[in-house]
Amino acid sequence: MNNLFSVQNKVVLITGSTRGLGLSLAKGFAEAGAFVVINGRTKHDVDEVVKQIQHKGGKSAGVAFDVTNRGAIETNIKKVEAEVGPIHVLINNAGIHRRAPLEELRDEDWKKVIDVNLNSAFYVSQTVFPYMRDRRKGKIINITSLNAEKARPNIGNYSAAKGGLKMLTKSMATEWGKYNIQTNAIGPGYFKTDLTEALVNDPDFDRWVKSEVPLQRWGIPEELIGTAIYLASDASNYVNGHTVYVDGGWQASL
Ligand SMILES: NC(=O)c1ccc[n+]([C@@H]2O[C@H](COP(=O)([O-])OP(=O)(O)OC[C@H]3O[C@@H](n4cnc5c(N)ncnc54)[C@H](O)[C@@H]3O)[C@@H](O)[C@H]2O)c1
Repeated sequence: MNNLFSVQNKVVLITGSTRGLGLSLAKGFAEAGAFVVINGRTKHDVDEVVKQIQHKGGKSAGVAFDVTNRGAIETNIKKVEAEVGPIHVLINNAGIHRRAPLEELRDEDWKKVIDVNLNSAFYVSQTVFPYMRDRRKGKIINITSLNAEKARPNIGNYSAAKGGLKMLTKSMATEWGKYNIQTNAIGPGYFKTDLTEALVNDPDFDRWVKSEVPLQRWGIPEELIGTAIYLASDASNYVNGHTVYVDGGWQASL
């Protein structure tokens, strides 16, 4: 019973973990005793975070690759499996925004946001899948958003990507459950990170968030850790295909 929520020594790969929510998750898993594999686009940023975690006594290694680059994904997943150990948990967290009204949104910004927020989760998961399948063990956690359910002006590309990722989560759960791989998603509400900096600094938006969220505040990145550890641990072994909204109650209220 005491080990139900344990992630001790489990290898956890978190995409886009050099800052923001991914970084916070990485630190949370390291504190819980997991071996955290940091990912970002540059070796410099990745090495910095690995150093920080190791400095605090955590277990960590890093792999720099772009989550939209198939070749780089394959090379690096192979490397992690060979040099670090079996990937037990994959967290597809990397994400970006390119904001514009739909009628002005350029094709390249539509495609880029779909590529980084949705296609990447398919690419990385499909690459990790055979290893998890052969071991008959694995956990995949996709980071979606409140915007998988509700639209807002100027982020049509992002909402479409996150809505797609919610359904990709259900597809993975449906097809890969037979290999004892559980796939779930976490849908954060509004958290203070670099990604939302423009919104945090907009007084009207800040007021709107505080008036709409039942808890009347923004989320802080550390508040995602508990849900992620639950979905990564044996405590959730019969939970498959769900999205847990960590949003201060926003989904629940009008
Ligand atoms: N902050 C929020 O309020 C919020 C709300 C809902 C969902 N989310 C989701 O949470 C996730 C993390 O968001 P965040 O707020 O921490 O953002 P962030 O911008 O602070 O961090 C994003 C991370 O992804 C990495 N990244 C971006 N493109 C990449 C690529 N092509 N390859 C590899 N890494 C790449 C960045 O380097 C960075 O480390 C995203 O998927 C985002 O959509 C965030």
